[in-house]
Amino acid sequence: MEVHTITAAKLPKSPALLRRNFRAFCSPKFLTLSSLQTPSSTTHLKSEMGSNKLEFPTKRMFILGMGYVGQFFAQELKHEGWEVAGTCMSDAKKKVLEQKGFDTFVFDAMEPEWKFLDRLRCCTHLLVSIPPILDIGDPILQHEDTFKESLVDGNLQWLCYLSTTSIYGDARGAWVDENYIPEPSSNLAKMRLKSEEGWLKLGQDLDLSTYLFRLGGIYGPGRSAIDTILKKKEMSERQKRRATRNFTSRVHVADICQALKASISLHVQRKIYNVVDDDPASRAEVFALAHQLIKQKWPGLIGATDNSINSILLGGTEKRVSNAHIKKELGVKLLYPSYRSGLQSIIDNMEDPLLHSD
Ligand SMILES: NC(=O)c1ccc[n+]([C@@H]2O[C@H](COP(=O)([O-])OP(=O)(O)OC[C@H]3O[C@@H](n4cnc5c(N)ncnc54)[C@H](OP(=O)(O)O)[C@@H]3O)[C@@H](O)[C@H]2O)c1
Repeated sequence: MEVHTITAAKLPKSPALLRRNFRAFCSPKFLTLSSLQTPSSTTHLKSEMGSNKLEFPTKRMFILGMGYVGQFFAQELKHEGWEVAGTCMSDAKKKVLEQKGFDTFVFDAMEPEWKFLDRLRCCTHLLVSIPPILDIGDPILQHEDTFKESLVDGNLQWLCYLSTTSIYGDARGAWVDENYIPEPSSNLAKMRLKSEEGWLKLGQDLDLSTYLFRLGGIYGPGRSAIDTILKKKEMSERQKRRATRNFTSRVHVADICQALKASISLHVQRKIYNVVDDDPASRAEVFALAHQLIKQKWPGLIGATDNSINSILLGGTEKRVSNAHIKKELGVKLLYPSYRSGLQSIIDNMEDPLLHSD
């Protein structure tokens, strides 16, 4: 089989030329599966004429920010035959992600190098998982023109920006849905709201199916109250403040992935969804259950219930966030409707913490 190799240096540089040629570069007819699995800046173009014709997935996800959710989602998509590429901020993490089979680019939006844009142009879907930075704003949208210009006439069809329910502010315990007027109180939440507006506009300008997902507190394997207790981590000042809330909405990472996949198969122009479970609860309740579950599974492993959490006075009521729309419109059936079933599944699948400790 004839294989042509085009190095990044040989790719046309002018945006106009790039646009004219990139559809051909990205076309499933030309781009091989192996080339996309090769973690390098080299793009291989292969003739289809050989006997071992390769099948090419038509769905290619790019994840800006392969953090906790990004990696979990990437793994699920990979199992379903998607090509997944994305960014992280360090060489060490890039290496780990490449070992898992994801073509990864090191990218720091504060000192941006746009090497990943050629690859992003070839993707059909884009998940944005990079948070805003205090006093700066959205780190990507700071470079909106460069970013947008390079995606015009690209392959992208779908964009989802991961936001947070903190944009709603304190609704004094009331239920809030997506139509509730956001009243962000912290500066970071105000920046988040601006990021939402910016990504919605960018999606609209590029004529993409555009989603904003407002996520509750994210937990799942490796990141939960159980992990915090077992690691004996001290609460940060921000966590202590959040712990005073009577209600915090949460969501298991597997349910975020469900909602993302459901939105991919729905073709709408733009839509905002709260992605949370059914059971907003205080941090103290969640930690009390986590303690109980650990003690049941590994008696003697931990001491008495952590008083630093129990002694926190509730009173920062906040809001209860409604998930009715993801159920009704996206057809999501939550795998973990409550932190109770979520924590239970985490501990059921956890190894004995003493197994690998010296
Ligand atoms: N944690 C929560 O409970 C919660 C709740 C609601 C919403 N959210 C938001 O939902 C999104 C996904 O959450 P997550 O928990 O998966 O986040 P995460 O694990 O912190 O991942 C964030 C990703 O963004 C990258 N990143 C951060 N700053 C960057 C910058 N300046 N330039 C380039 N890349 C940058 C990180 O790089 P590295 O991989 O190299 O670190 C990481 O890949 C985030 O926007 C988060 O703020 C989080």
